[in-house]
Amino acid sequence: MLAGFFSKNKETTRDVKPEGRAMRVIAITNQKGGCGKTTTAINLAACLGELGKKVLLIDLDSQAHATVGLNIDNKKLHRTIFDVLTSSKKKPTELADIIVKGATNVDIAPASIKLATIEQLLAGVPGRDNLLHLKLQPLRERYDLAIIDCPPTIGVLTFNALRACREVIVPIEPSFFSLHGLGKLFETIEMFKDTLDHDISIKALPTIYDKRTCFAREVIKDLVDNHKIDTLKTFIGVNVKLKEAASYGVPISEYDKKSSGYRDYLALAREVIDLEVLKPANTFAALGFENPLEYPVKTNKGVIFAYRDHDAQNVRITGDFNNWSVEGEELNKMGNTGFFRKEISLTPGRYRYKLIVDDEWIRDPSNPRIITSPMGDLSFFEFAE
Ligand SMILES: Nc1ncnc2c1ncn2[C@@H]1O[C@H](COP(=O)(O)OP(=O)(O)OP(=O)(O)O)[C@@H](O)[C@H]1O
Ligand SMILES: [Mg+2]
Repeated sequence: MLAGFFSKNKETTRDVKPEGRAMRVIAITNQKGGCGKTTTAINLAACLGELGKKVLLIDLDSQAHATVGLNIDNKKLHRTIFDVLTSSKKKPTELADIIVKGATNVDIAPASIKLATIEQLLAGVPGRDNLLHLKLQPLRERYDLAIIDCPPTIGVLTFNALRACREVIVPIEPSFFSLHGLGKLFETIEMFKDTLDHDISIKALPTIYDKRTCFAREVIKDLVDNHKIDTLKTFIGVNVKLKEAASYGVPISEYDKKSSGYRDYLALAREVIDLEVLKPANTFAALGFENPLEYPVKTNKGVIFAYRDHDAQNVRITGDFNNWSVEGEELNKMGNTGFFRKEISLTPGRYRYKLIVDDEWIRDPSNPRIITSPMGDLSFFEFAE
């Protein structure tokens, strides 16, 4: 019973923007070198930022090309993603401790050459593939998307990216060797899908694509017909401006807006936005909800609470209506939709509450009403008869 802690003294109320959805995590991966992973990670992130999305770009490659490609001098950095992935419980380094500004609406978690040692350092460490996933959790409300630039190897860093993401983009440069080794990558992703309880969507992205050659078209056709791989509608054509932008340490959006490279990556960003894993409005409608964006919703009997999070296992609610019981009341998981919901019968009044998501007490991200109390931010609502 925690009712005493949540006294009504010293409380102030405020409204915040409801956060309708959790951060999407997209890994850009292919073990083939030089196929456009980093170019895609930087420019997709920058174009998503231009379109108003808050993006975290994570450099997971010891070559640190995404870091350098955004003109960040990693030699001057005190800590990088290496420190996040190897931090101890006693002296933790969080992603928030290393993040620097990369471009408009884009922050970057930078890398350095030190990452090259991580494979040996983490060998035999239990849960080593889960480190990035866990470190991303506190940032779920801060960013709309996280884009991970993977190294050209399948090892602990790529495993961390696959564990953390729900979507994979595989850049493919249509060359003689481009399909070689792809089978292994897809096998690895499938293996991960089996060990996780969530699905990963995989999409190929033709890059450095010379539209004039039949060869490029044939490689992509082979990909779709024989490898049954879903290909994005956007193709990234060959454009020397992309190379130049990287050498100046800026994304294409800041280098040349007239270039075909910019047009291609902007089209990709738009396609990625349209690919929202779940369209909340439709899903809410399918579940019979009245208001797709804000919760709780009043019904004739009481109130419906809802929470959306694909990675959550167990969601409970505790508050004034159950005397702040530590166990709370469990929300029902709605199949594979990532939604949890519960209708609670209540009499009219004012109620403060918190959600307990996998043992973490959080405020309700889809409720804009907040009370600041001595115990921190609490969600609240009130309704009359
Ligand atoms: N669409 C494009 N047109 C012209 N050049 C490109 C294009 N995309 C990438 N490049 C160039 O190709 C080279 C390899 O690209 P990039 O570094 O993005 O590949 P990568 O897959 O990240 O490589 P690695 O496997 O080493 O990490 C770079 O010099 C880059 O500037
Ligand atoms: Mg790269």
